[in-house]
Order: sequence, then C-alpha cells, then structure tokens
Amino acid sequence: MLILGIETSCDETGLALYDTEKGLIDQVLYSQVDLHADYGGVVPELASRDHVRKIAPLTQQLLDQTEYTLRDLDGIAYTAGPGLMGALLVGASYARTVSWALGIPALAVHHMEAHLLAPLLDERKPPLPFVALLVSGGHTQLVLVRELGSYELLGESVDDAAGEAFDKTAKLLDFDYPGGPAVAKAAQRAEARNAQLGIDSRFRFPRPMTDRPGLDFSFSGLKTYALNTVQQHSPLSDIDRDDIALAFEEAAVETLVIKCRRAVKQARAPHLVIAGGVSANQRLRQQLERELDAEVYYAPPQLCTDNGAMIAYAGALRLQANGGDTGLAINTRARWPLDELPAIGDA
Ligand code: KG4
Ligand code: ZN
Repeated sequence: MLILGIETSCDETGLALYDTEKGLIDQVLYSQVDLHADYGGVVPELASRDHVRKIAPLTQQLLDQTEYTLRDLDGIAYTAGPGLMGALLVGASYARTVSWALGIPALAVHHMEAHLLAPLLDERKPPLPFVALLVSGGHTQLVLVRELGSYELLGESVDDAAGEAFDKTAKLLDFDYPGGPAVAKAAQRAEARNAQLGIDSRFRFPRPMTDRPGLDFSFSGLKTYALNTVQQHSPLSDIDRDDIALAFEEAAVETLVIKCRRAVKQARAPHLVIAGGVSANQRLRQQLERELDAEVYYAPPQLCTDNGAMIAYAGALRLQANGGDTGLAINTRARWPLDELPAIGDA
C-alpha cells in the first residue's frame, strides 16, 4: 500500500509517501518559521493561509522527487487533530478532495499518536508494552502502550507543555522563535564555559511536582522562575542568558527524567519511547539513557518535530488494519484525547 501523509496541524506543511512494503519513500517539509518569527509565536490565521498556498505545490514536489504519480496512491492520511482548527481544515479538506477524486480511502490521523509511533519507523523498534513520553509544544503526557493504538494515560501536564515552557523561556531571553533549539544551544554554550572554568551551573531552578507522588507535570512555575531570574539580573549579558537557559533546561529535563523513571517502574515496562519536538533535546536523551533502568527509543531529530512521514506511517498502520473511507465529511478536532482512539485493528 502506498500512502500519502499530510501534516498541517500547526506551522509546518509536511507531506510524505510511505509504502507498507518498502518503508518511507520520501518526504517534503515546509516550515513557516520565518512567517511567524516577528510575532514570537504562531499566528493561526497566517498559518492556515500559508498551508493553503503550499499544500498543492508541495504535493507535486514530493511526487516529482519520486517515481510515483497521484494515481499510484492507495490511500491518504491526514492530521485531523489536535491542533489549530483552521490549519487542520486545510490538510483535511485537501486530503478528502483528492481521496474523493481518485476514489481511494482517506483516514483521519491523531497528531500525537503519529508522534508516538514515529520512533517505530526505525529498524530498532520498541517491544510492547512500553511507556511513551510525549513532549511537544502543546502536550506533555506519559502513556502506557500495551498494544498499538490503545493508549492509557498515566500522567500529563496540569498547565504548560514542556515545549511551551522552552518557547516561553526563550522569549524571555530574547531568543528567536521557536525557542526549544535556541535554549538548548545556549545551555550547551554555558555548559562548555562552566567546564572550562571548572565551575557548576550558576543558577538552580526547581524541579516542579517531583517532591510528591504521581506522574503529572507542571511547567508554568518554571517559566515564572525564569522570569524572576531574568528580572533580577536585567539588563542581561549574553553570558547571563546562556546561564539561565542552562538552569532552565537542567530543571525541565531532570523533571521529565524523574517522572519517566517512576512511570517505567510503576508500569513494569522496561522500554521507554520519547516522541514529539522536545524529544530532539540532546540533554533529555542522554540523561534518560544514563539514568533510567530501561531501553530508550526515539526518532531521528527531523522526525521528532512535526512532519508528514509520521502521519503517513500512522495512517498506513490504521488504513491497513481497518481501511478508510472516501466520504467528504471533514471531522477535525482542536482537542482530541489520545485515549479515545480504538486499538489498531479494532475500529
Ligand atoms: O512536536 P512539535 O514539532 O510540534 C507540536 O506538536 O507542538 O514540537 C514543537 C516543540 C516546540 O515547543 C519546540 O521549541 C520544541 O518542540 N523543541 C525543542 C527542541 N526542538 C524542538 N525543545 C527542546 N530542545 C530541542 N532541541
Ligand atoms: Zn507535533
């Protein structure tokens, strides 16, 4: 089966072709970062309009990069939620229209399930059951996966998502949007400087909600702590910025690691999958690998952040198991709890 995957839930237009026999064929990704940079965050209306502009030419570009045409497709998978409603509608209506025109099935994909499954595109696949840490710009969740498609929520953020906290801290430090990679780079600079001088991190931020049992997270206090530190030391030098970024990253990562350790123990599942934009973070990967009594699995960095390949893959699994439909009804969902999904093969 050859599946076209379409991702338009936020500020990336991602398209990919996945073949159930041959694997990932190719993908294209267009990031709207420059469009939103001046605003310090995603402007939903601008995002939707840009998806409209890009989606058809990018589909053509993807096909041109391969030996395939639209007629070779067996199905289309598109992100139907969670995400920005206007942006989701662009991908969904495009997918539904092409599916109807070609007479091939289309299938609505859950964006976070696609993130969760992305590490399975790798040769080294996590055995079931596994715990998944989903850390993106909109979500921070710990999930127990006993079978693919069936997700038991173990814990989640009661306020900001981890990626959101990275982005907000970056904004306080005057780093470019999106903030996660900028904070990570600044933290690396500070760490290298500290190593040269033989000194410890200058600041220590709290590890929220780690002093009580449970698997929920809270990241908004960390952002407030960063704000107070910024205010105390303003005007900030470049070195101050790097030091604050390091303290924030150390605290955010250690908090995630503590909860992952608990989750793996509680679930008695010695395999941990990390997925979503923040799973590209090197400190998080290294610390989990060093400190957890579990095997850690993650996708290559370009498949951690939003992309069409993960949508094509998740869609292919569900299309293969349950089929899709050629109807023109569009059901996009800004919010969509992951544990509402049926197990793959059960729908
Ligand atoms: O999964 P994603 O691309 O989009 C959503 O579904 O939200 O995640 C984007 C988030 C942003 O908050 C971004 O700052 C963060 O992932 N991110 C990172 C890194 N790369 C991306 N955070 C920390 N370290 C990184 N290297
Ligand atoms: Zn995402």
